[in-house]
Amino acid sequence: MRVLSVASEVYPLIKTGGLADVAGALPAALSAHGVDMQVLLPGYQQVMGKLRDPVALVRFEDLLGVSATILTSTIDGVEYLVLDAPDLFDREGGPYTDAANADHPDNWLRFAALCRAAANIAEGALADWTPDIVHAHDWQAGLTPVYMRQGKAAHTPTVMTIHNIAFQGQFGPDIFPELDLPQSVFSMDGVEYYGDVSFLKGGLQMATAITTVSPTYAQEIRTPEFGMGLDGLINARADNLHGIVNGIDAEVWDPATDTMIAANYSLAKPKKRQANRKALADYFGFGDTNKPVFTVVSRLTWQKGIDVLTELADDIVAMGGRLAVLGSGDKALETALQAAAERHPGDIGLVIGYNEPLSHLMQAGGDVILVPSRFEPCGLTQLYGLRYGNVPVVARTGGLADTIIDANEAASAAEVATGFQFSPITPDALREALRRTIRAFAEPKVWAQLQNQGMKADVSWDRSALRYASLYAELLNAKSDT
Ligand code: ADP
Ligand code: GLC
Repeated sequence: MRVLSVASEVYPLIKTGGLADVAGALPAALSAHGVDMQVLLPGYQQVMGKLRDPVALVRFEDLLGVSATILTSTIDGVEYLVLDAPDLFDREGGPYTDAANADHPDNWLRFAALCRAAANIAEGALADWTPDIVHAHDWQAGLTPVYMRQGKAAHTPTVMTIHNIAFQGQFGPDIFPELDLPQSVFSMDGVEYYGDVSFLKGGLQMATAITTVSPTYAQEIRTPEFGMGLDGLINARADNLHGIVNGIDAEVWDPATDTMIAANYSLAKPKKRQANRKALADYFGFGDTNKPVFTVVSRLTWQKGIDVLTELADDIVAMGGRLAVLGSGDKALETALQAAAERHPGDIGLVIGYNEPLSHLMQAGGDVILVPSRFEPCGLTQLYGLRYGNVPVVARTGGLADTIIDANEAASAAEVATGFQFSPITPDALREALRRTIRAFAEPKVWAQLQNQGMKADVSWDRSALRYASLYAELLNAKSDT
């Protein structure tokens, strides 16, 4: 079975968050289930720089007004499809923003072109590879099912995955004429959303099936609180909605082989973990290593509850803990965390920016990975924490609720607990969770049990890849029945 996956970021070529990890891991995870998945992504500057001997497969003279080429390139044994369109993607900055961190004003065109190219592939643009199914990720790929419905690939099943419903790709109605879609698509059952154009809404409306990245989030987005205005649509399509929890790339994230950490260790040989604790303490200028180190690897935003965390920074130190934060995001939150670090040198450390190797060392050398999100479709850092013995303390929401077993009395007695959950997302509830955590840390046996249980947990892609493969098979069967 051939599946085209369409995503705006794919690890290791380009990454700003979890979407890249997932889009990067799926092809290998699915090949074990007989799925031949190819990923199409934009040829940003950073991506073009990493390609090895790219080969042009097809050239489009007029892809929504720009010229573009689909290249193929194999890197470390993985084949990628890259949309090379210099007018759209050959720019300084990140995938969505310029060097000054402002959104590109033509993001609608950049990602509409990606979707149009994906639809062309579905329609047979590549000589020897036409997908049976097309799988679109997040709003940037949202118009793919919309374009496909209009042409030769109208009957090819599509899957639209929501990684975060907060980002919808909403633009003014003036862009509609530039999208090269029939006027009828600018309607309630198409891309129209309160008079605007919404890429995600269009995709959710037109896709054969909708998935999101955890069962709890699949339920949450049916409510006004989490649905961000799309709960009505999601409810109307509830029969076609599936919550499939993310796994982790067990090769990239394996403490036994990870080359980005200070010393390798495993469940069988846990002692070497200590060298990572020491390396992390040195990195952040912490003194002795007796105190529990709370780590945060995150976008610094309201979604992630970083404002709540910041409010508790002094308390963490007062309770005898330490805090190490790696991330970037809202300037006000960065400034507040910076101030906390300056108030507590040697106890609170902050690195602003994006640092892949440090993100690995934090999992290997931290005691706790703290994820106080207000909402979290799946979350990956708590999964990395499980694998690395960095005990997760998480908000009880979305994928965090689905992946961490709270150390309540019953779970502790049964020795199945893997971390701590708290709710609601308030300073008081977080403070209480930190207290419980610090109490458990003070009992080496209890703590080792938590770490062991986490390191044993199955966070691989195995089960979820099977669920995607089964979903694809169902969609193909349903298609041949019609
Ligand atoms: P989201 O995609 O909502 O940001 P996830 O938990 O799904 O959240 O994924 C975040 C991914 O980005 C993880 O792989 C995490 O390790 C990584 N990450 C986040 N911030 C940084 C950073 N500052 N430096 C390095 N990696 C980071
Ligand atoms: C999004 C979500 C995050 C999820 C990731 C990968 O960025 O915010 O919760 O883990 O996508 O699916």
